[in-house]
Amino acid sequence: MSTPLAQRAAHVIAQVSPDTPADFVLRREIGTDPDLDSVEKRALTGAVFAFFRWFAWLETTDALPRRVLAALDLQKRFDADPAAIKPEALAALALPPWALASLDFPTPEARLSYLRQLQRPPALWIRPQREFAASIARALRHTSPPEVRAANFKLPLTSAPTALRYTGPSDLFKSEEFKKGLFEIQDLASQIVGHACAPLPAETWWDACCGEGGKTLHLSDLMGNKGVIWATDRHTGRLATLRKRAGRAQAFNYRAVTWNGGPFLPTKTKFDGILVDAPCSGVGTWQRNPHARWTLTENDIHELAAIQLQLLENTHKALKPGGRLVYAVCTITRQETTEVVRAFSAHHPELEPLPLLEQTTPAADGLFLWPHELDANGMFLAAWRKK
Ligand SMILES: C[S@@+](CC[C@H](N)C(=O)[O-])C[C@H]1O[C@@H](n2cnc3c(N)ncnc32)[C@H](O)[C@@H]1O
Repeated sequence: MSTPLAQRAAHVIAQVSPDTPADFVLRREIGTDPDLDSVEKRALTGAVFAFFRWFAWLETTDALPRRVLAALDLQKRFDADPAAIKPEALAALALPPWALASLDFPTPEARLSYLRQLQRPPALWIRPQREFAASIARALRHTSPPEVRAANFKLPLTSAPTALRYTGPSDLFKSEEFKKGLFEIQDLASQIVGHACAPLPAETWWDACCGEGGKTLHLSDLMGNKGVIWATDRHTGRLATLRKRAGRAQAFNYRAVTWNGGPFLPTKTKFDGILVDAPCSGVGTWQRNPHARWTLTENDIHELAAIQLQLLENTHKALKPGGRLVYAVCTITRQETTEVVRAFSAHHPELEPLPLLEQTTPAADGLFLWPHELDANGMFLAAWRKK
């Protein structure tokens, strides 16, 4: 038997395609229905994402609403007891086999923890401006600091000291504090990238793939709105969004310029720091965005790895002596992480690998932020200093 929720979710799912991803269709559906309250919005989002999370378990011959109900049932069983779904089934069905084969886990236990994490609904993280961290926690209530299960990190998490998990019922975009720019919705792993850059107030930084400015705004806050950040992206429309967000956050120490990622750099300025938050497959976001598991191809990974390497090649020339280059991607495939770093390092003896965050010595090929260790997106970071 179907339900109104399953039917509405099926209506959304029927509009999803590789070019119109599930999160886009959901935003459109939710944004055009003023009658949906926040509980209904969350239920609809949960049902659509459960469908894509459990997609490979579902009977293809069943009607969509019936498959939605089956997915919700699997989600409920799994949430009550993760062991209810056998590890072998998770490895075979939670993501395409070629994708699992492109991930290098430190231990078999880490592999199982990762697979289980993929099947959980994701956490919601916010980044208050530093000055307002305590007052935002009080005002929003239902917040808590990160609890991290990772040998790489000490607690409290000095790598993201102001990050807060939000577990309350409100639509945060409608809160006064959000409208005033006092906090941003930003995943914990992305916040850790800003802290890994550790920019100083008087420095000059380049956020080379700034997109809509999530990390530019963080760098600006860490720099106390001083110094300068060049924020570039190939998509001019994203820079327009960055300007809007910066206006809300009262961030002024940035310059937004279109740059296509090619060898002609946007400025002759030399930088204390360059962040290359490169375009990537987004495999690290597959818990939050399960539809993408079924649209990405192995070929995409190889093409993206070539772009990532090219971006590092083009940007590092703008470093001052002693300047730092930080590479970040929200993916954890070997091809886009350690292989890019090895290929780049091999041609650049003038760049020395740097330790990241709480590491005391540089990890040979960078640092993985695993979803199961942080309850956040998976990311990868590497850094170098120009000798
Ligand atoms: C991972 S996203 C950046 C996210 C952003 N830094 C943030 O924190 O919100 C990567 C960005 O790289 C941009 N991009 C893609 N290919 C590029 C290229 N070849 N050169 C420069 N930017 C590129 C995309 O437009 C996208 O906005």
